[in-house]
Amino acid sequence: MLSRLLDATRREEDPRPDRFDPERFAVDRTAHRSRDSYLPFGAGPRFCVGNTLGMLEATVVTALVARDLRLTGLPGHVVRPEPMLTLRVRYGLPMTVHAAT
Ligand code: HEM
Repeated sequence: MLSRLLDATRREEDPRPDRFDPERFAVDRTAHRSRDSYLPFGAGPRFCVGNTLGMLEATVVTALVARDLRLTGLPGHVVRPEPMLTLRVRYGLPMTVHAAT
């Protein structure tokens, strides 16, 4: 279970955790943070054993997509975040995909 306390802790460290801000992961901004302030791979004794591979895969796939493709959201489609255990998109994220030129 994730508690509201965790959410409050996140807001203490970043007043706008919902903002798109990749720089929040920069070394100088993360050095002082608790190891458990970011939990994509769980924590404690059940911590994900594949976390390094998972991060590597995500980086490689993102780089390949950014290099080779252009993704465009469908006009008129409103993206609605759906916070579950992980953050989801309630009505999907339909896109058109074009080869990058
Ligand atoms: C982005 C990718 C991934 C995410 C977000 C993720 C997330 C997680 C989370 C949250 C847990 C903890 C579950 C719990 O507390 O019960 C977990 C456990 C685990 N993950 Fe991952 N994972 C990822 C990739 C991988 C990969 C690539 C592997 C293996 C190649 C892997 C293998 C495992 C295993 C074996 C456990 C159980 C560890 C244990 O209970 O001792 N995961 N993962």
